[in-house]
Amino acid sequence: MNILSVIEKKKKKQELSTEEINFFVNGYTEGVIADYQISALLMAILLNGMSDRETYDMTMAMLHSGDVVDMSALGGVVCDKHSTGGIGDSTTLALAPILACCGVYVAKMSGRGLGFTGGTIDKLESIPDFDTALSEEEFFRTVKKVGCAVIGQTANLAPADKKLYALRDVTGTVDSIPLICGSIMSKKLASGSDTILLDVKYGSGAFMPTKESALELARKMVDIGTRAGKNIGALITDMEQPLSDHVGNSLEVIGIIEVLCGKRNRLYGEIKEVAVRLLQLSGKYDAHSAEEAFCDVVESGKALHKLAEMVTAQHGDASYILHPEKFPLGKKVEVVSDADGFVDKIRADDIGRAVTCLGGGRMKKEDKIDFSVGAVMNVELGSKVKRGDVLCTVYHNGKGLDEAVNLLKNAIHVGDKSPAPHKIAFAYVDKNGVELY
Ligand code: URA
Repeated sequence: MNILSVIEKKKKKQELSTEEINFFVNGYTEGVIADYQISALLMAILLNGMSDRETYDMTMAMLHSGDVVDMSALGGVVCDKHSTGGIGDSTTLALAPILACCGVYVAKMSGRGLGFTGGTIDKLESIPDFDTALSEEEFFRTVKKVGCAVIGQTANLAPADKKLYALRDVTGTVDSIPLICGSIMSKKLASGSDTILLDVKYGSGAFMPTKESALELARKMVDIGTRAGKNIGALITDMEQPLSDHVGNSLEVIGIIEVLCGKRNRLYGEIKEVAVRLLQLSGKYDAHSAEEAFCDVVESGKALHKLAEMVTAQHGDASYILHPEKFPLGKKVEVVSDADGFVDKIRADDIGRAVTCLGGGRMKKEDKIDFSVGAVMNVELGSKVKRGDVLCTVYHNGKGLDEAVNLLKNAIHVGDKSPAPHKIAFAYVDKNGVELY
């Protein structure tokens, strides 16, 4: 077998065999096939697609390129959720303790932010001394004792994806559904959970621009997970505006604490939707008992205390969870409306870019993050505003302030008419099919 014939075959829109797929994934991971040849193959896949069978085979080859975590020693249901990325998406910080309080384990490996999207690991590291690099042994011990733990991805989890993703990033081949499926699902399946909820986002702050493309991606990922023997479902959710009204690292932790202390906003609505679906997928709850359990652990304050327990177990200072006013924040500047009307468009990606300009995100992997900067939104889609009303408050330390304020001003558009209401979720997909909301 040689790589040129594999490229030629995909160029002619022919299906690759399992052997050909294993050959290119393993050859590239081991460094025996050159970047320029895999670049050509990736572009052929982007243009000509892959069948479900090819996508599954590629995912399996990527999954087996590194370690596959075995969680069976925990002796219980292990749940995971994965968001395809967005702005103000801090749901993991609440879901891990909520689900742990409901009697399922959460042993989560999360990523860092890059570009305009934030990452769970950075948000957690804004809590002083929080350790996101526990050894495997301590990670398992913490999950067993507390019920949940969140760490960064270990080095040898799906190494094929690390190499392929880096190449896609510089060859214009990120936005291919089979390639995204292989990338996300190889990592999810390698991290060992048996019950998985995917949160596939669409809109201005997401990878998938439309509901339809998000639904197609979700169906394919659910199909791969089901074939791999997992209990898996996917929610298609709205990213036409930031999910949390707090955007930025410490600010998003504060936003989560507010939800766990009783705030009932869109972020709360999405956390509830994901938790209730995951609890049902776990097989331990039906729709009614899942909702009851969720409300009990959030309203009683058990979930907030479980978050503090997880922070302590991961060597962080849990006093910040119980006293969020301790988080140091930058200086405040308000962005105000220059018209009367309704907020009819919010460019979530530009809100993320504004926070990155302030130093709250990374342009390059090695950039250091300023946890204390960000923006707190005063409005959401449909809010009625008057000229001079505050649209959002910026927290800054001087860096990038003018550019961030400009981006925010343009990102929040005020028009004459109120837009159609935006539901949190558009659809749910599992092995039984699609349920529209
Ligand atoms: N997230 C991933 O991990 N991979 C992709 O290809 C896209 C989003």
